[in-house]
Amino acid sequence: MFVAPDRQSDGIGNQLINKAFAHADMRGAPIRALITFTFNNVSQGLYIRHGLFPRFPIYMVSVPRDRLAPRLAASRLRLESLMADAIAYDELAAIDVSAVGVSREKHHRFLLGDSTTRGFTIHAGNECVGYVYISAGHIGPLAVRRPDLVDAAFATALSFAAQTDCPTISAFVPGASEPALKAATDHGMRLTFPMLLMSNRPFGDWGSYLPRNPGFM
Ligand SMILES: CC(C)(COP(=O)(O)OP(=O)(O)OC[C@H]1O[C@@H](n2cnc3c(N)ncnc32)[C@H](O)[C@@H]1OP(=O)(O)O)[C@@H](O)C(=O)NCCC(=O)NCCS
Repeated sequence: MFVAPDRQSDGIGNQLINKAFAHADMRGAPIRALITFTFNNVSQGLYIRHGLFPRFPIYMVSVPRDRLAPRLAASRLRLESLMADAIAYDELAAIDVSAVGVSREKHHRFLLGDSTTRGFTIHAGNECVGYVYISAGHIGPLAVRRPDLVDAAFATALSFAAQTDCPTISAFVPGASEPALKAATDHGMRLTFPMLLMSNRPFGDWGSYLPRNPGFM
């Protein structure tokens, strides 16, 4: 949402939210959620007024690839390329339902149709335990079946990203996941942008999920 600077503080944002929520009601969407800037008083005040409350911080983190490489350990998990013509969407949907509470088949189709993005399933032995997308050094969305897998899954994605020629490796890590934040810090990643998840009610298991960015939760 963006209101032209010379028209801000004149009730337009308020009206835009009312219209968006009327659309959500019409479509029967029970959960309203967004990611905003931690330092934005106006947006947070406006969202709170509309029943969206702060849940936890989400940090954009990044590290130069040459600083990441020496910190990588052998991966416990393994990545397998997602091929658009041979995808078990029901398996991905099961992971999504346990991580964020909804199936995201359209999102997978969208990401796999983007030639700059690579998708992978994540495996522990013979078991598929999650998935991850990586685009131009940026990791996410990443989802795992259980929160105790998130640090190993993230580390495996970092190892893959470190082998590309992207100068910077980045991700978007929920403050609700101690293991993911610790893995980011252990790999030399710096916090570059503090953000905040706001919603009308708690939802999802944010210890098992790293979104892609604020616009693609
Ligand atoms: C955020 C934004 C969309 C809001 O739109 P807007 O048209 O300026 O907002 P409105 O005039 O409808 O409402 C402003 C409301 O914010 C709230 N607000 C403003 N400052 C606040 C503060 N310091 N503390 C708490 N609430 C505050 C109030 O509820 C206020 O309404 P009120 O004046 O009637 O009490 C607009 O400022 C914008 O485009 N900012 C730049 C882009 C951006 O940051 N977008 C949000 C990305 S998530």
